[in-house]
Amino acid sequence: MNDINDPTLFDYTSRQLRNLCDEAGFPSSDSAPVDMLRELLGPGGDRRLSEGPLWPSDVADDATPVEFSVALDDTGENAVRILGEVIAEQPGMAANMAAARRFLDSTAERLGIPTERFDAVQDLFLPEDPQGKFSFWYSLIFRPNATPKLKVYFNPDVRGEHRGRELVAEGFRRLGMEDAYDAASEHSVQRGEKDRFTFFAVDLDDSPTSRVKLYISHYSATAEEAVRASQAVDGLDAESIRDFCRVLGGDTVTFGGRPLVSSYSFVEADPKRPGNYSLYLPIRDYVAHDAEARERVRAFLGARGSDPAGLDRAIAAVTDRPLDEGRGLLAHVSLRLGQFGTGTTIYLSSEGYEVLPPRVDASAASAAVGA
Ligand code: TRP
Repeated sequence: MNDINDPTLFDYTSRQLRNLCDEAGFPSSDSAPVDMLRELLGPGGDRRLSEGPLWPSDVADDATPVEFSVALDDTGENAVRILGEVIAEQPGMAANMAAARRFLDSTAERLGIPTERFDAVQDLFLPEDPQGKFSFWYSLIFRPNATPKLKVYFNPDVRGEHRGRELVAEGFRRLGMEDAYDAASEHSVQRGEKDRFTFFAVDLDDSPTSRVKLYISHYSATAEEAVRASQAVDGLDAESIRDFCRVLGGDTVTFGGRPLVSSYSFVEADPKRPGNYSLYLPIRDYVAHDAEARERVRAFLGARGSDPAGLDRAIAAVTDRPLDEGRGLLAHVSLRLGQFGTGTTIYLSSEGYEVLPPRVDASAASAAVGA
């Protein structure tokens, strides 16, 4: 059954994924990405979009439980990624967590993915009655002709907001990185409730470059807070962070909408200092619509000497709607800096359930009211 006007969630998102993989040069015979998406979505993938989301996933603004991302630097890793939440057939916090666990069991076994790191921290981050917006999410990482990789995002607030710091510190300890907590928090959590741990993430991979990452949201921050956070990593260029905030934020000085987010990457060989810093800017909160977001991303890529054409290819893979008719297709943009590689990544919403309307600025709104 294939009603093209009312596709299922799987039909809709798998088409977007296939297009993104085609753009990234994956062989068309490579069915691994789409197969894995099917498994991630589970029975919820068979629901028609018109039936609405099964669960209010926080992965994306319209509750689609997946979000795409692509790296856009010329030396780019050429990866297509999905951030996704596993939703149980009878959804609920604990049921979703159990379903997500089963996804890991079957996927790890099938693909030979090592789960030691997950096992080392699961009793911390997977309580019986998970709190907050989610228990854990996955990143599925696809490269041409390669076995997919998995990354897990744990929720520091899963035992209540007041226990986030303790969970993160203990998580690092369990992974043999006891110094990482101080190294990361020293520069980034200085402003009380305005700097909050968002994700504790582990690559499920046993290569030497396998990372443990800590994400920190900076509420009502300026570029200078990001610069300060970046100083946990030696030798980063503060100007590139300022440029990133200025070009993508437009005239934003204080990012008072969705927060700027920092992340630090640690590897086992050097757990005392993060090797990389990334900054995520939720561009959708700082533009009127996606045409404006696209212009800013193009300008940023151009100034860095990257080819902006990749941006348009990625956009076209996901949607054909006019960009000025909605906001949030381009959800975040991130800048990666450090010894494990530098580059720009864009996060693309599926918009399976909803396209957020363009922002009407204050003067236009009052003109409309007056009319
Ligand atoms: N939708 C959530 C948010 O925007 C979570 C999220 C999805 C996110 N992708 C992200 C957070 C990328 C930071 C960076 O906060």
